[in-house]
Amino acid sequence: MATIGSRTSSIASDWKSNSYYLAAEQERWVDVFWNAATPFRRLFDHLDVRKVVDLACGHGRQSARMLSLESVAPAIEKVYLLDVNQENIDACTERFRNSANNSRIEMKKISGADFRPLEDSSITAIFCYDAMVHFEYDAVLSYINDAARILQPGGRALFHHSNFVSAPGADYKENPHWRNYMSKSLFAHAANRAGLSVLDQVTIEWDGERNLDCLSLLERPKDTDRIQTARRERNRDLYGKIRRKLMSLRR
Ligand SMILES: C[S@@+](CC[C@H](N)C(=O)[O-])C[C@H]1O[C@@H](n2cnc3c(N)ncnc32)[C@H](O)[C@@H]1O
Repeated sequence: MATIGSRTSSIASDWKSNSYYLAAEQERWVDVFWNAATPFRRLFDHLDVRKVVDLACGHGRQSARMLSLESVAPAIEKVYLLDVNQENIDACTERFRNSANNSRIEMKKISGADFRPLEDSSITAIFCYDAMVHFEYDAVLSYINDAARILQPGGRALFHHSNFVSAPGADYKENPHWRNYMSKSLFAHAANRAGLSVLDQVTIEWDGERNLDCLSLLERPKDTDRIQTARRERNRDLYGKIRRKLMSLRR
């Protein structure tokens, strides 16, 4: 299990008993993510939602909306709502207690830096909205790494993260809209290093701040892609060895 840093735990505490949760239920605050005309929705429609994770679920408004969509809901077999704060898990348990969807929903408190206890290669899609924008960079990198572990080959993750790089080292609460330090390109680099393909990245404005945030759509390559890459690399090594042998014979 990845260890959670002190900044990550203090950020987690900022989101306990926060007035945000009630305000965020307003239709216009939810529509930003789910309206068909938004980049969120365009990219979300590239996910296979059979086994889907809502990372940093808060009080569950994003999953509630997802489960209400006729074009999305029937495909969902299981939604995992994950959050670092137990009180949010309790709020979600209460919210969905009498819902017809209850049997398709599982809530889990997580450490704050990885997806455990979810199992390796068990998930077809991950999404994270309005939350990772606040996370410390090392927690973001840790989640990217662990996404590569839980996604099935061909599984995808859609992360809404910060693209704010103007104040390295600052307290995130001093930054516009509490955005933490992160960039589109650092995020893509980390995804590549984790073995994930970056299918798309779109910078977006937030409340008038241009390019403040970014949406990154990542994919765990299908095993056939990995096997082909491994074969190509092995052949390249083999040809190199043969070439070096021939050169040494010629001398
Ligand atoms: C602004 S709220 C967004 C909640 C939800 N995604 C939504 O759109 O309503 C931020 C959420 O991130 C969670 N959180 C903060 N740090 C976290 C971490 N390191 N790992 C997982 N969740 C975290 C908080 O508990 C809170 O639920």
